[in-house]
Amino acid sequence: QWIYLNGEFVSKEDAKISVYDHGFLYGDGIFEGIRIYDGNIFKNKEHLDRLYDSAKSIMLDIPLTIEEMEAAVIETLRRNEMRDGYIRLIVSRGPGNLGLDPRRCPTASVIIIVEQLAIYSEEAYRDGLVSVSVSQRRNIPDALNPKIKSLNYLNNILVKIQANLAGVGEAIMLNAQGYVAEGSSDNIFIVKNNVVYTPPCYIGALEGITRAAIMELCEQLGYKLKEEPFTLHDVYVADEVFFTGTAAEVIAVREVDGRKIGSGKAGPITTHLLQKFRELVK
Ligand code: PDD
Repeated sequence: QWIYLNGEFVSKEDAKISVYDHGFLYGDGIFEGIRIYDGNIFKNKEHLDRLYDSAKSIMLDIPLTIEEMEAAVIETLRRNEMRDGYIRLIVSRGPGNLGLDPRRCPTASVIIIVEQLAIYSEEAYRDGLVSVSVSQRRNIPDALNPKIKSLNYLNNILVKIQANLAGVGEAIMLNAQGYVAEGSSDNIFIVKNNVVYTPPCYIGALEGITRAAIMELCEQLGYKLKEEPFTLHDVYVADEVFFTGTAAEVIAVREVDGRKIGSGKAGPITTHLLQKFRELVK
């Protein structure tokens, strides 16, 4: 397995960064998760655009143009003979002295890892996930904006810890006002009376690329779609609930906080959207 590390390709064993890398010391950096399906990098442009937006937002200067970055991704896939799998693209502030001042880091670190990644089990996709809501709140936009896909994933990890303690695969984060925001690493949708709902990102969610693809599919398939805030009550009484993400793809939720969702398995609209999503990524 070959890792792209600052312009070189190194083996997994040799892929090391300095302990003075501010990505490690302070979570000072950004990342993207991208999928390749049968040689087709899904929404590559959208992911790279988001990466460069995240970089700009934290004043991180990526030492590659977006075209050079795309070429580096493609070359990493080629060297690993990867036609199906998951691409993790990381840009950190880079090595510098102790002290969080980013001016101490002259050169950003650019890392590209490609491998298989399955965040949920096959049976979870078949039967739907059991999920819970957690006390961990999504940081609100004027804190660390959730639209920035930063290396600061402790907010998400704390959600994952609560999901693990509850013995479930994914958990739902609310925002400070109590509105449903998203999962630890995926966006959330509900369906009620044939209308599809997803929270607007200002509620506290990453502007998911899979979320956008599903919203586009809803338009194309003629499903009424509403981007508006909703609460856990709306989730409990929904006919269908599902998560979306690059790693998650589209996964149904059959129970939340002990409330069975709809028929207790993947609903018809969720199943239809997943089927169309699978055709889309080819
Ligand atoms: N990220 N929300 C959060 C907090 C996420 O980390 C992710 C995906 C999403 C889904 O966004 P998208 O559809 O653009 O992937 C939402 C993980 C690492 C991933 O799936 O790659």
